[in-house]
Amino acid sequence: MTIHLPNPRLAAAWCSEQRQLGKTIGYIPTMGALHQGHLSLIQQAASENDLCCVSIFVNPLQFNDLNDLDTYPQDLDTDIELLRKAGCHMVYTGTISGFFPEVEHIGQIETRDSGPASKGLEGTYRPGHLEGVYQIVERLFATVGTCRAYFGEKDFQQTLVVKHLAKKMKIDGMGIEVVVCPTVREPSGLAMSSRNTRLSIKQLETAKLIFQSLSTAKNAWQKGIRIASTLEEIMIDVLDHCELKIEYVAVRDPNAWTLHRPDHPLNEAQALIAAYLGSTRLIDNIRLNK
Ligand code: PAJ
Repeated sequence: MTIHLPNPRLAAAWCSEQRQLGKTIGYIPTMGALHQGHLSLIQQAASENDLCCVSIFVNPLQFNDLNDLDTYPQDLDTDIELLRKAGCHMVYTGTISGFFPEVEHIGQIETRDSGPASKGLEGTYRPGHLEGVYQIVERLFATVGTCRAYFGEKDFQQTLVVKHLAKKMKIDGMGIEVVVCPTVREPSGLAMSSRNTRLSIKQLETAKLIFQSLSTAKNAWQKGIRIASTLEEIMIDVLDHCELKIEYVAVRDPNAWTLHRPDHPLNEAQALIAAYLGSTRLIDNIRLNK
């Protein structure tokens, strides 16, 4: 059975009661419109902890495009049914005033320093997005308390930002262990995303190029190419399609995030892409050195 708690206050009480009973909690923050990518995190959390808890909150703070927020898919009943089948014990939802009771309106919410990984790439093309993620995840973590928190590698920069947050919260005495899980893909290679439902059949075909481009970079890495700019050129060649509007194609050191492309040969590398297909923005990435 999955219980639904409609506000963070009730969720916090449930989590702390369960911890007092000696239960460990695996937690997955989401914005709903659940698909197999989310469910894979839930399965992993359920297998590694006594209890599995999910939050569903479409966080307005992280949407730099209001149209994207207005059209973000939402279907709570279907989500709760999926969670029940996946073995989730508790799902909680909330509102901005529930998460930020100290403010009267959203504009009063304090901006936080979301760390070095929020600069560049997503930070450049979606100004304020990762700061918005940081602001809400801080409240989501504070609600759940000590837990293992599961995030998808699909949103690579986000995983770096939440690791930075967890480190800061640890200093304040809250033990959150961030677990990064592999990206779940369609048979075509396209990374699963709640936004994929907006793509036409023709766009779904074109979208395959993104994973093909990442895979080509991986082949090049395996052949010994270690220079970020060369790998990026190889990726751009594959993406050459009139319908795809590239925002960035980038290769970065995953353990030493830099605003600009590193120019020394890399020992470890993450290849990342963001592109628009029509009005739908898609992001994806893979580790090259694995
Ligand atoms: P959302 O986009 O709903 O994603 C919730 C979690 O599912 C994130 O950790 C994301 O990386 C993961 N995920 C999405 N697609 C995936 C896929 N194809 N394979 C594996 N994992 C996948 O990310 C957010 O929500 C929000 O920014 C949030 C962290 C909830 C803060 O509002």
